[in-house]
Amino acid sequence: MDWEFQLPTKIIFGKGSLSRVWESVDRKHVLLVTGKGGFREQFIGRIKKQLSNVKLSVYDNVEPNPTCQNVDGGVEVIEKEGCEFVMALGGGSVIDAAKLMASIAVNKGNAYEYAFGKKKIEKKGLPLVAIPTTAGTGSEVTPFAVISDKEKKLKAPIRNKQLFPKVAIVDPELTASMPAGLTANTGADALSHALEALWSKKAQPITDYLAMRAAKLIFDNLKKACQEPENMDAREEMSLASLLGGMAISNAWTGPSHAISYPLTVYFGAAHGNACSITLPEVMEFNALRSEKINRITQIYGPEKMRELFKEVGLRIRLSEFGVKKEDIPLILDGVVVSTLETNMVEMKKEDIAEILNKIL
Ligand SMILES: [Fe+2]
Repeated sequence: MDWEFQLPTKIIFGKGSLSRVWESVDRKHVLLVTGKGGFREQFIGRIKKQLSNVKLSVYDNVEPNPTCQNVDGGVEVIEKEGCEFVMALGGGSVIDAAKLMASIAVNKGNAYEYAFGKKKIEKKGLPLVAIPTTAGTGSEVTPFAVISDKEKKLKAPIRNKQLFPKVAIVDPELTASMPAGLTANTGADALSHALEALWSKKAQPITDYLAMRAAKLIFDNLKKACQEPENMDAREEMSLASLLGGMAISNAWTGPSHAISYPLTVYFGAAHGNACSITLPEVMEFNALRSEKINRITQIYGPEKMRELFKEVGLRIRLSEFGVKKEDIPLILDGVVVSTLETNMVEMKKEDIAEILNKIL
């Protein structure tokens, strides 16, 4: 079996590692990209203290499910103020948006052209340090950015090796203030990454090891992290699970559950993690029938165990809970991102997806 694994991002992991931000900054003017929300203030303060000899501009106009406009706004600030370095402090939305800002600042153009047009990111962008405040997206170690166009109701991933951040600083303490709902949602995203990496066509020994370890950490710690928010050991294990899941998909990519999640978010407002996890048990059943490898994994983390975990942490397991009706299924099928679906280890046709959606209605 031939394979390759690429991960150019330096990873700094551990409780308190936010205090090591200064080590990575080697330029004079930094753009700090973040979202809105009071809890970030104390972290921004800690970063500012470490970078007292560096000029710091802040761009906090990134929404959940970031839009092309959010990205273009950040690029404008970089150009106007002459920023030479980008730092992302936030969840996957903030990190994804910052990746594109750093890239477009060098490659020129606008976010829409790269996401939904034909333009390709050719050159390495400005250096980017990614600091996640949630545990799930793994965006700090992936070459992906998911972007939306609200008016046109479009959401799609951009995949490009130039999008890998230069450094990821994963400090589990930053996730401690996440409410239970966000912990469950982001944790479900991490599980989706681990499992989708396992049933990807691009799966290989390293991504399999990373994915299996991530899945175990999630089954052992997600409930604890939701029910005992102050439990720092559980938080640390979930941060590690998220990182390992991100490393797995950075090379194996995601699959059907992500492909189906995009229309569920765009049309029904489903949060990303839950929009992915809702089809995970059925996608697993589909693949287990066609693959001995996945069949073996169902003996450890089977669909029933998954549904039980999702219920325990308050995740939705039926589409009707998002307001989806039977007549909406063609709309969802139309919105499935085909390039992501095609990563699945065996062919999954639109009628197979329709069957899955009908089962969980
Ligand atoms: Fe995801």
